[in-house]
Amino acid sequence: GDGDMVEIVEVGPRDGLQNETRAIPVAEKVALIDLLSEVGFRRIEAASFVSPRWVPQMAGSAEVMAGITRKAGVRYTALVPNLKGAEAAVAAAVDELAVFASASEGFSRANINASIDESLARFGPVMARAREAGLQVRGYISCVTDCPYDGPVAPEAVARVAAALFGMGCFEVSLGDTLGRAVPERVDAMLAAILDLAEPGQLAGHFHDTSGRALENVEVALGRGLRVFDASVAGLGGCPYAPGAAGNLSTGKLARFLADRGFAHGLNLELLQRAEAMAVGMREVRG
Ligand code: HMG
Ligand code: MG
Repeated sequence: GDGDMVEIVEVGPRDGLQNETRAIPVAEKVALIDLLSEVGFRRIEAASFVSPRWVPQMAGSAEVMAGITRKAGVRYTALVPNLKGAEAAVAAAVDELAVFASASEGFSRANINASIDESLARFGPVMARAREAGLQVRGYISCVTDCPYDGPVAPEAVARVAAALFGMGCFEVSLGDTLGRAVPERVDAMLAAILDLAEPGQLAGHFHDTSGRALENVEVALGRGLRVFDASVAGLGGCPYAPGAAGNLSTGKLARFLADRGFAHGLNLELLQRAEAMAVGMREVRG
């Protein structure tokens, strides 16, 4: 890695906690985010302004954003599916927005009750609102190799959605193995297709770890030049609309893997361990 910097985007407070069965009080989420703020992340995905009927766990997102202690140098980001979500996120003073689309129709329908093209059309007003508020927008693509409903996904299908997201002004696209069952060969083929239309610096890898191969997929992506990866403290998470999906790649596991390969990640591992203990505790007190 030659000391190359790799950014780990901490998504546990959103991608992790959105999937917990217990209703987690706002104060617990705030405490976790405040601890994560000390670890050295540049970005923490702290909230999600989606329909509370679809994802009840994210209902307190405005209160979470109001409750956290913002650390200088950390961007607190949030997911938004439509203009209503963007308005709420801007009102909550989120630092960066993320829109999310799927490369497969089955997951798009299950997750956001819309076709891929309908979802992309909803992002137009989100991008306009973000520009007005001076915020950058990340684009997520789910199911970049496999869909729980439609099966294998072609690299061309991912490339089409990536082109649309870059075309509307997303500064970065995060490529999601939603199910966590991607194999490195197919991740590599998918990346090859996306790198025909984007620079590696515009891409992030977002691997869930159901099959325990997330680090192998990170390795392939590092080889393709990617230097931003999403991870979740203590491997929290899953996705409510991807049955059987395990949590995101664990932040600590990723940090150790990167360090072993000579990459810098800028995280304080001692403070990360404290956040991990808190996250594990949040998961264990399940009702
Ligand atoms: P819908 O039911 O088709 O939409 O949901 P609707 O426009 O008919 O609205 C239904 C109700 O939701 C209405 O309320 C709206 O006002 C309200 P009612 O009048 O019935 O009381 N509503 C909202 N409320 C709060 N905030 C909003 C909002 N929008 C509408 N932004 C919708 C469509 C997209 C809203 C819904 O399907 C939804 O919110 N889905 C979110 C699903 C989700 O959050 N999934 C998890 C995140 S994606 C993920 O985890 C993958 C990722 O990690 C990458 C990877 O791993 O692949 C990013
Ligand atoms: Mg995810």
